[in-house]
Amino acid sequence: AGRRSLEGVTVLVTAGPTREPLDPIRFLSNRSSGKMGYALAEAARDRGARVVLVSGPVHLPDPPGVEVVRVETAAEMLEAVLQRAATAQVVIKAAAVADFRPARPAAHKIKKDTAAPLVELAPTVDILRELGRRKRPGQVLVGFAAETHDLLDNAQRKIREKNLDFIVLNDVTQPGAGFEVDTNIVTLVYPDGRRESLPAMSKRAVAEAILDRLPLEREPETGQ
Ligand code: PMT
Repeated sequence: AGRRSLEGVTVLVTAGPTREPLDPIRFLSNRSSGKMGYALAEAARDRGARVVLVSGPVHLPDPPGVEVVRVETAAEMLEAVLQRAATAQVVIKAAAVADFRPARPAAHKIKKDTAAPLVELAPTVDILRELGRRKRPGQVLVGFAAETHDLLDNAQRKIREKNLDFIVLNDVTQPGAGFEVDTNIVTLVYPDGRRESLPAMSKRAVAEAILDRLPLEREPETGQ
């Protein structure tokens, strides 16, 4: 991959967790730090791509030269991503989007002198599935999967269901892989069942490996 190999290509990356409110001051979320998605955004920028980074709440600064769109909830991420996916030739979904949200967030702070509340959850929209439905010819769609069990079966199913070019599987139970840490250990799984396991490496190096493997058509879009 040349240094400017993504010149003229728009790459949309998602990163970080989402926050699903329980009341005005509390939320359900997860351990994603955003490091994996931000490394992807920076690596794509350094290859000359126009990069749009849709980010949940994280403690990382905006990468220079990248258009950053900050969101909180899965619903906000869905809207931000769908709005921008139509003009992106490559979409890489490293965000850890909540699968469920509190069905009826309280309008006021839940007080502790009331009986312990039961929180009913409702499913969020699967953003990757929506992207798969809308996928245009030539568009490349890469998903991530953070699993703790049944790793490969789940990956294969997701590729098929969501119309992906490949999926980046991290076994989040391994030390040095997945959430929060600076390194990752991934297996790339392709639609034909082929698998490629990479050794432990920095998230930036994982990002470079992912970009090296994008099945881009020879003529990149001329941008917009
Ligand atoms: O942010 P870091 O601390 O660096 O950690 C990196 C990471 C572990 C978050 C990252 O490498 C990763 O695995 N991201 C995906 C985590 C995840 O939510 O996996 P999942 O198996 O639940 O979801 C699978 C795919 O569907 C993901 O691409 C996810 O973005 C997408 N998804 C999930 C739910 C939903 N409602 N919409 C989605 O698009």
